[in-house]
Amino acid sequence: MLDRYLNLLKSGQLVAFPTETVYGLGADAQNPEAVRKIFKIKQRPLDNPLIVHISSYKMLDEFTDEIPEEAEQLVKAFWPGPLTLIFKKKPKVLDLVTAGLDTVAIRWPSHPLSQDLIARSGALAAPSANTSGKPSPTKPEHVKEDFGKSFPIVEAGETQIGLESTVLDVSQKPFKLHRPGNISRNQIENIINAVIEIADSQKSETPKSPGTKYSHYAPEAQVSWLQIDDSLNSKETLYLLHSKTEQLERDNIIYFNENFTEMAHQLYDHFRSADHRNLNRIAIEPITKDAMKREPLAEALVNRISKAIGSSR
Ligand code: TXA
Ligand code: MG
Repeated sequence: MLDRYLNLLKSGQLVAFPTETVYGLGADAQNPEAVRKIFKIKQRPLDNPLIVHISSYKMLDEFTDEIPEEAEQLVKAFWPGPLTLIFKKKPKVLDLVTAGLDTVAIRWPSHPLSQDLIARSGALAAPSANTSGKPSPTKPEHVKEDFGKSFPIVEAGETQIGLESTVLDVSQKPFKLHRPGNISRNQIENIINAVIEIADSQKSETPKSPGTKYSHYAPEAQVSWLQIDDSLNSKETLYLLHSKTEQLERDNIIYFNENFTEMAHQLYDHFRSADHRNLNRIAIEPITKDAMKREPLAEALVNRISKAIGSSR
């Protein structure tokens, strides 16, 4: 069933495919013309590098030969899975893929269809399959919304996790977290037995590092944290509540009952559906520091929601 998509990839075309996090927009990572199409269709700035998706250690060797010991432990613990590692790149890696940096981001996704596809096509450069600035796609319909009904998609229903992979720079020490995700900081620190730092790009108001400086994850509706004096009465607002509370029967209030895994799974779909329903605001119950310590996905949720708030006008 993958033959048609493999032929497209081989001839330098783009194909959207499922991963365990979100849908990716794949191009042959060794074909500059194909990779260029990614930036064009996404309207992605050329200085925002792509993740190379692999499905074997042999493919990893094509892109880097500098794998620190602790990074190898992370690979053993979490690959295949939702962890992207940034390594020093081999000279032949396309500048277009790395945006001219001397590092390359690599991820070995666990979704069986992505593994099949990559094993047969070779490594794929792939960002999330959405127009730049829009929420990442967790369903084939989201990809079609952004790129049109007939866009080639290896369809496999909803993605499992719903937020993008953890991105960790292991090309220098201490290792630096560029993007929190399903593999939590704690899990990483337990494996390498060392503390990881937050990348500058995550800390500063005007980030220097690629990707993080652009608006992200934002629907048209204005996203904000629910305020103390907010009622739950506005018909133009979608409310996302995570704590266990008495439940009103209203289709614009979504209750997650402390299930942060489900909240992550559904977040981007709610962002998009608010726009379909012409709701002008999305109010999200603040996630406490306590929950951040307790819940592996809370840090990633706060990161994506804060970026959506920062991008809202
Ligand atoms: O879960 C995911 O990671 C999804 C699926 C499709 O695999 N992909 C994804 O890709 O989210 P994208 O392009 O939307 O996000 C990749 C992030 C960007 O913020 C980019 O700037 C950063 O990774 N990145 C890539 N290469 C980098 C590098 N060499 N140094 C620093 N950051 C890098
Ligand atoms: Mg993206």
